Amino acid sequence: MSRLLVLALALGGAAAFAPAAAPRAATTLAATTKDSLSTKYDPTAGANAAVAANNKGDAWIPQMQRPRRNRKSAGVRAMVRENFLTPANLMQPIFIHEDSDEVVPIASMPGQSRHTLDSMVKEVEAGMALGVKSFILFPKVPDDLKTNFADACYDPEGIVPRALRLIKSKCPDAMVCTDIALDPYSDQGHDGIVLDGKIVNDMTIEQLCKQAVCHAEAGADFVGPSDMMDGRVGAIRMALDAEGHTDVGIISYSAKYASAFYGPFRDALDSHPGFGDKKTYQQDPANGREALIEASLDAAEGADMLMVKPGVPYLDVLYRIRETVDLPLAAYHVSGEYAMIKAAAEKGWVDERAIVLETLMCFRRAGADVILTYYAKDAATWMNDEGNVCL
Ligand code: PBG
Repeated sequence: MSRLLVLALALGGAAAFAPAAAPRAATTLAATTKDSLSTKYDPTAGANAAVAANNKGDAWIPQMQRPRRNRKSAGVRAMVRENFLTPANLMQPIFIHEDSDEVVPIASMPGQSRHTLDSMVKEVEAGMALGVKSFILFPKVPDDLKTNFADACYDPEGIVPRALRLIKSKCPDAMVCTDIALDPYSDQGHDGIVLDGKIVNDMTIEQLCKQAVCHAEAGADFVGPSDMMDGRVGAIRMALDAEGHTDVGIISYSAKYASAFYGPFRDALDSHPGFGDKKTYQQDPANGREALIEASLDAAEGADMLMVKPGVPYLDVLYRIRETVDLPLAAYHVSGEYAMIKAAAEKGWVDERAIVLETLMCFRRAGADVILTYYAKDAATWMNDEGNVCL
C-alpha cells in the first residue's frame, strides 16, 4: 500500500484500515481459537506455515492468480460479464380458452391463467411494452372437439388460427409461435394418433403437416413441433414450402424428455395422457447422447431453431447441443419449474425475483438464445427496473 493511500485512509477517518493500526489477522484469529477451543494449531507458525506474512506483517498467501480482482466491484463485474439477459430473449407462453368469458386462474401455476382471446391480446400488448417480443400459444380445447385423429387441430376457424389472426391484426410486430402436436385435441391425451394402444408415427405426421399449414395460413411466424415423432420436421418443412410458406420458421422441440415437470401444464390444458405415459416418443431422462441424434436430425431436416425441454434439469443437454449445432437454441423453463419456484416463494423460502433472474441467466450461460418462460413478463419488469442489468 502506498504511503499516500495510507495517509488518505488515516485522514479519512478510516484509521482501523491503516496497516499500522491493523493487527495481523491470522495471529488474532489463531489467538482467539487457542483461547476458546484450546487448539494448538497456528496456521502462521512452524516450518510449513499455511499463512505467511507480507512486508507489512499482514497475513499473506503467496498467491499470484487472484480471480477475485475481476469481481471486486460492480464496475469490474459489468466489464467482464460474459452473458446478458434481455427481455427480447424471452418468449412468453399464453394459455387460451373459450369455455367461458372468464380469465381462469390455473391452480398449480399461480399467476398464470387460461386467457380469453381479449385478455390474450392484452397479455401480448403488456409483454411488448416490456420488451418481450415473442409469444407461444397453447389452447385448452373442449372435450367435445377432441378425437383420436385430432382433426380440430387444423380447423381454420379453431381457437388457435383465430387467436393468430387477432394478434396479427392488433399487434403486427409481435412474433407468434404455435405448438404443433395433437395432445390438446386428442381424446387419448397423446401427442399422436393411437392405434392398438400405440402412438403411430407417420399417420400422426400427416395431421401435424395440416396443423402447421393451417397455423401458417393464419399468420404464425414460427411453428414448434413438440410431438417427438420421427421425421416430422422435414415433412412439416415440405408442407409449408409446398403451400408457399417458405418464410414460416420451425422451432423444433428437438430434445423433449418424458418429464414429470410438465404436470401443471397438463392441468392448464386438461391434457393429461388418457392412458400410459409418453415414454415411447418423448426421450428418456437418463439419456444425453440421444439428444444429439435428435438435434442433428432436426437440423438436417431444416429446423430454424432447436429447443431443449425441460430447462434447468437439462442444462447439460442444452450445452452439449450448443457445442455441436450452430442454429439458435431455445430452452423451455417448463410449468413444473415455474410451479416449484412459485411455491417456495409463496412460503418465503426463496427470493423469487433473484432466483428467477439467476435461473434465466443460467440458461443463457448454458447456450440458450431464447428462453420460453412463464416468468417472461415478471422477469422483463425486473430487468427494466434494473436498467436491463441483472445479477
Ligand atoms: C404438448 C406440450 C407439453 C408442453 C409443451 N407442449 C406437454 C406434454 O408434452 O405433455 C409442456 C410445457 C410445460 O410444462 O410448461 N405436446
